[in-house]
Amino acid sequence: MVDLIVGLQWGDEGKGKIVDLVAKNYDIIIRSQGGHNAGHTVVVDGKKYALHLLPSGVLNPNAMNVIGNGVVVYPKQLIKEINNFDKNIKNKLLISDKAHMILDHHIAIDQAREKLRGKNAIGTTGRGIGPAYADKIARVGIRMGELKNIDKLIEKLAHYYEMNKGYFEYLKIEIPSIEKLKKELKEYKNALGDIIVDTTKYLWDNFDKNMLLEGAQATLLDIDHGTYPYVTSSNTIASGALTGSGLSPKKLNKVIGIAKAYTTRVGNGPFPTEDIGSDGDKIRKQGAEFGTTTGRPRRCGWFDVVAARYAVELNGCDEVAIMKLDVLDGFDKVKVCIAYERDGEKLEYFPSDLDGVESIYVELEGWDKSANVTKWEDLPKNAKKYIEFLEDKIGSHIKYVSTGADRKSTVIR
Ligand code: GDP
Ligand code: IMO
Ligand code: MG
Repeated sequence: MVDLIVGLQWGDEGKGKIVDLVAKNYDIIIRSQGGHNAGHTVVVDGKKYALHLLPSGVLNPNAMNVIGNGVVVYPKQLIKEINNFDKNIKNKLLISDKAHMILDHHIAIDQAREKLRGKNAIGTTGRGIGPAYADKIARVGIRMGELKNIDKLIEKLAHYYEMNKGYFEYLKIEIPSIEKLKKELKEYKNALGDIIVDTTKYLWDNFDKNMLLEGAQATLLDIDHGTYPYVTSSNTIASGALTGSGLSPKKLNKVIGIAKAYTTRVGNGPFPTEDIGSDGDKIRKQGAEFGTTTGRPRRCGWFDVVAARYAVELNGCDEVAIMKLDVLDGFDKVKVCIAYERDGEKLEYFPSDLDGVESIYVELEGWDKSANVTKWEDLPKNAKKYIEFLEDKIGSHIKYVSTGADRKSTVIR
């Protein structure tokens, strides 16, 4: 049985919290796309963990964790993350030999290109994600399995640097010395070599176990279906998780979509329900909306039904979790976007480009004191009405309502 958790908005919905919450029901947790651009926060008994490359199942004592073929791995970050844990978590981790590697030059290219784009910058996390995926698609990337033969890998990289000399010069990026590179690659091999395996085969050999695919980023950042070019460089939606793990669509049992009770976005790009006034500020403050990965303030706004319905359909959600309901505590009224308007035309479908789109809102009565509630019947009346309203509009059952960062602060309906 394979279930999947996927973000329905622009990321940071609280995927890490729900993965951790349900991890006890699974034997294997799998990351299938993205890289250390992700920042998944898990809070257990007041202690906070920020995970970037490690699947959020690592805090569960029993689950195996897999970094699948679709992930781009920056070994330096992964080693750091593994070492951050007091206990040995390497014995609960496998990395796909087909996963592509991020090297320092990918990060330098990402940052240099963003600078050159000036006001048109995407607002990437600067982690080398786009350049690493670009190399993969151009068939000049490096796979984790290639750490097996470092001499051969060095030869390949020397050719790569030679081919890209002009581009590196243009971006004012230094080509690393072969000696330094060799030393680094050896460190990577020593630290990770024994857990790099064919994870596709590992998953196939374990079909009798329960597996959970942990999405990173989210639907509206999908390279095909998101707000291109202000997106990430992987397929973040449910079907991408299958490519990124080697599991067939027929194995998929349940898709759980994760959305905040409002909307946030980091980086540039269209955001129809953004509130740049005092309400947006209040949400940012109450929700501590600052990026887990880069610390950047997140742009904040209201729940967008048009976008959520699009995401529910793209991913085939069976159930949805609405996160951070407590952040809306204390608002007299809460707004929900139920349609867009462009050039006098009403749009109820999320269009391929959002140029000139305006939100049409309805206002609902606000509430107070939903924080840390764990039972549906204990939620304030208007908070329940809000959830029921969203459920009706997005067309998927809202099974989880999250009322605080801690694992315990969750209503399960
Ligand atoms: P992810 O990338 O989807 O895993 O989400 P992040 O971890 O980047 O961002 C979600 C943030 O909200 C984290 O700081 C969580 O600890 C926090 N969080 C998750 N659920 C809730 C909730 O229901 N209420 C509040 N107040 N915080 C939450
Ligand atoms: P999690 O998994 C929120 C955004 C960046 C930028 C765009 C492209 O924590 O939800 P990239 O570095 O991927 O090339 O940046 O995507 N972005 C995220 N926003 N949460 C994330 O991950 C993100 N990962 C990338 O801010 O707008
Ligand atoms: Mg995040």
